[in-house]
Amino acid sequence: MKLVIVGTGYVGLVTGACFAEFGHSVTCIDKDEKRLEILKSGKCPFFEPGMDELLDKHINKTKLISFKSNIKNNLENSDIIFITVGTPIKRLEEETDLSAVWQVAEEIADNIKKYCLVVTKSTVPVGTTREIKKIILGKVDQKLFDIVSNPEFLREGSAINDFIRPDRVIIGTENKKSENIMKELYRPLFLKETPIVATSIETSEIIKYASNSFLATKIAFINEVADLCEVVGADVQQVAHAMGIDKRIGSKFLNAGPGFGGSCFPKDVKAFASTAKKKNIDLSIINAVNKSNQDRIIKISDKIISNIENKSTICFLGLSFKPNTDDVRDSTSMKIASKLFEKGFNIQCYDPEAMNNAKKENSNLVFFNSAYDACEGASAIIIGTEWNEFRALNFKKISKILKEKIIFDLRNIYTPEDLNELGFKYYGTGK
Ligand code: UGA
Repeated sequence: MKLVIVGTGYVGLVTGACFAEFGHSVTCIDKDEKRLEILKSGKCPFFEPGMDELLDKHINKTKLISFKSNIKNNLENSDIIFITVGTPIKRLEEETDLSAVWQVAEEIADNIKKYCLVVTKSTVPVGTTREIKKIILGKVDQKLFDIVSNPEFLREGSAINDFIRPDRVIIGTENKKSENIMKELYRPLFLKETPIVATSIETSEIIKYASNSFLATKIAFINEVADLCEVVGADVQQVAHAMGIDKRIGSKFLNAGPGFGGSCFPKDVKAFASTAKKKNIDLSIINAVNKSNQDRIIKISDKIISNIENKSTICFLGLSFKPNTDDVRDSTSMKIASKLFEKGFNIQCYDPEAMNNAKKENSNLVFFNSAYDACEGASAIIIGTEWNEFRALNFKKISKILKEKIIFDLRNIYTPEDLNELGFKYYGTGK
């Protein structure tokens, strides 16, 4: 099939590369010429395991992926056009900014010449795909297109695997014709018995927000349980483990920590609640999840501050919002590090991949080339992100260069026993 993907951000690029892996021919479109130059050279503009190799394969060897800077002249012969542009949250209104989506819909409408599907893969509030249809119908006969909602469930750091071995694929359509075309597109997954769930467009749009919001709820829930565990001397990791064995609950997304971050959960819980509010529905649980997660940054910063006597230098390990990504958008590590800096601490930090992005966001932090360099002279270590390289640190070596042996293990990657033995004061999360 001939696919056009508009927007070469995270979702667009992973989608394009993986569809090329399925054997489809993919044209990726983006207005950002600098980004296109990087892409044309076969490199991925962000860190995502496996993406450099996949792009190199399909740009240089199979030649299934090409890059273009405009929609005009590039929709010809395309079977499916994916909209994968960004849908950020507006700061004040806490509503989704759909301006890029509307603009792309207009441009698509100007250039459709033969029957094709127009698919929203960007995360959009319920009703958006139908609005896109209205825009296109303003210029194009209904016979020449159908609209589809096909949300993505890609986690940064494991996006290729999530695309190629998904738990499910959601296809929201208005008719059988478009449903069958989408099923043909995903045939390699269908053959592997991946559940393909065909729904209406509105149902599909809600599935995306309900899924992300539910996972965010699980995290916020276990984080509050962790607070109680700390006060009464219980261990949240054991609580979560035992809860998770119950198949009705499940063990995933029950790891207590500094709160959920990234470009999706924080934005999506706000957008879900604000979309519902417009329809006079109060998603009170989701509102509470949002508040609980926002309050957590202050709670954790206060806990750190109140347990460090020597208020000088802190070593902060891990800045990305989770491991295996260089993304620091809405990263809890960045927020806590900034709070501590505001309180007068000097922050020495290190992250395996996210330092360039972190520098752009907060130039007050001091950056080092290794975890050990960042520990030099510090009064405490904070582990903010559970990168594998922090899981076996040489604490004997670290003991010699620290000023005081205090560790805040926000992601619970060590046990108090491990570190108390080496003379550290250990503070985990919920234990
Ligand atoms: C999330 C969803 O997991 C994807 O399915 C979805 O497609 C994506 O958003 C999106 O909407 O595009 P992602 O933001 O990459 O993916 O990251 P997650 O692995 O879901 O983690 C989100 C945050 O929750 C991170 O800050 C992580 O550290 C935190 N988290 C996760 C916890 O604190 N505890 C957990 O048990 C799991």
